[in-house]
This record gives sequence, structure tokens and C-alpha cells, in this order.
Amino acid sequence: MQKKLIWDIPLRLFHWLLVLALVSQWITAELGSEYMDIHFYIGYFTLGLIIFRLIWGLVGPKYARFSNFIYPPKAIWQYLVAFLKAKNPHFTGHNPLGGLIVPAVILIVGAQAITGLFASDDVLASGPYMSAVSSDTQSWLDGLHHQIFNVILGIAGIHILAILWYQFGRKIPLIGAMITGKKTDAAQNGIGSSRLLLAVILAIVIAAFLYWLIAIAAPVPEVDYYF
Ligand code: HEM
Ligand code: HEM
Repeated sequence: MQKKLIWDIPLRLFHWLLVLALVSQWITAELGSEYMDIHFYIGYFTLGLIIFRLIWGLVGPKYARFSNFIYPPKAIWQYLVAFLKAKNPHFTGHNPLGGLIVPAVILIVGAQAITGLFASDDVLASGPYMSAVSSDTQSWLDGLHHQIFNVILGIAGIHILAILWYQFGRKIPLIGAMITGKKTDAAQNGIGSSRLLLAVILAIVIAAFLYWLIAIAAPVPEVDYYF
């Protein structure tokens, strides 16, 4: 059977850059204040990735679109039941259950990046919007920034276990497809192009937006001097 392109290049880049970014964010947070600069920059980049995937879900190629993999609850339940009996039907793009990872990641990782803008390590490093809210709200958002990361770890863990199960338990080569973009079982249904020009334009617009958000629109923090 002929291999056809299913996962466009921007979608694959999004996926593997997201994995790298989350691992780096974990490491830089654990290393402490000295590494907070890097934590901030990668955090802004991660926010950019999330905004990109949100828009790519509307304008990207067929299998990247929300309309291709967001199913009603009944279909998700039916797929889950079939999956548990190892009789799940084949889907060329995301299956109804697996597709949930996209909105879940957009919401949860998006919330992690946004709460980071308000977080502070109470020593040297503060997110650019820390002084934009009351101190109660700030410490609530800071607390969320700590707690949400556990949810990310949980979702990533379930996702990786599911992928490993398909790959090695059911012998369905999903991992290779997320690297090369191609599946053999899609002879009729490949995508024509990765829409690279559109992705580059979108990335530039998002980068400009983030620059405005962080370097221009962020409030200048009040400085307290203690004598
Ligand atoms: C931090 C960890 C990870 C996160 C947050 C994550 C997130 C995601 C997301 C959001 C998607 C949907 C892609 C899209 O449509 O844009 C996805 C799909 C996928 N991920 Fe991951 N991923 C992680 C780690 C991994 C790892 C380590 C592997 C490989 C072992 C992997 C393999 C895959 C595969 C194969 C798919 C496509 C599934 C399908 O065919 O429906 N992921 N992942
Ligand atoms: C999605 C991207 C991000 C991830 C995955 C992430 C992850 C983390 C983690 C795991 C911690 C340590 C929490 C703990 O020790 O319990 C942390 C702390 C922190 N993060 Fe992030 N972060 C992200 C984005 C950001 C952004 C954009 C900023 C600010 C611009 C930021 C600012 C901070 C600060 C200031 C702390 C220290 C908080 C404290 O010590 O109380 N983070 N982050």
C-alpha cells in the first residue's frame, strides 16, 4: 500500500517542539532562580506553540483541523468501549478518544503558560504581569502554576502509555507516522501539502503578538526600596 502524507510538517514540529519545551520547562523550574530567564523564554515560546495549534485547528490541512477529530460524547464513549474490547475501528487521523489530547493540551498547557506570566519565585524572578493583579490574585495564579503542572504530567503520562500500547501491543506504527507524517493505510486520503507558507506567516504574526504582550503591553513593575 502506498504511503500518504497525513500529519503536515507544522503539526509535527508543533508536537515535538511541545515535548521539548515541556521537558525544558520542568528542568529549568527545578534548577531554580538562575535558570528562570530561560524558563521565561521557553514559556513564551510554549504559549506561542499553543496559540499556533489553536489557529492551525481552524486553518491547517484536513487532519490538523478540529472538525476532523472532535466527535460528540457518544462516539467517544463507543470508541472507548470498542478499544477496551480491542475491536476499535481504524481512523486515518486522530481517533475520537485520541483526538481529545489536542483540546486538553491547548487548555491545560495554555493555562500553565498564562499563569506563568503572573508567577513569582519570591526571590529574583517574576512574570511580566505579576504586578497587574492584586497580591491575592497573584498568589492564587502562582499556586495554579504549580498545581497545573501535575495535570500536564498526568495527561502526558496517559498519552504516552496509550501511544506505546498502540505501537507495541497492537502493532500500529503511530510513532513513525508522527515523525515522517506518513501512513501506509491512507492510500486514498492523504493531504496535498503542509501549507508551509501559511504556517510561516502565522508564526510571524504570533511572534509579533507575543513581543507586544511581553515587551510592550506588560505593566512596568513598581519598585519598592527598603532602607
Ligand atoms: C510531553 C509529552 C507529550 C505531549 C504533551 C504530547 C501531546 C500531543 C498532542 C497535542 C498530540 C496531537 C497532535 C496534533 O494534532 O497537533 C499528540 C499526538 C501524538 N503524540 Fe504526543 N505528546 C507527548 C509526548 C509524546 C511522545 C513521547 C510520543 C512518542 C512516544 C508521542 C507520540 C504521539 C503520536 C504518535 C501522536 C499521534 C497520535 C495519533 O495518531 O492519533 N507523544 N501528542
Ligand atoms: C507552559 C509553559 C510552562 C511550564 C510547563 C512551566 C512549568 C513550571 C514548573 C513545573 C514550575 C515549578 C513549580 C513547582 O516547583 O512546584 C514553574 C515555576 C515557575 N514558573 Fe513556570 N512554566 C511555564 C511557563 C512559565 C512562564 C511563561 C513564566 C513567566 C513568564 C513562568 C514563570 C515561573 C516562575 C516565576 C516560577 C517560580 C514560581 C515559584 O517558585 O513560586 N513559567 N514553572
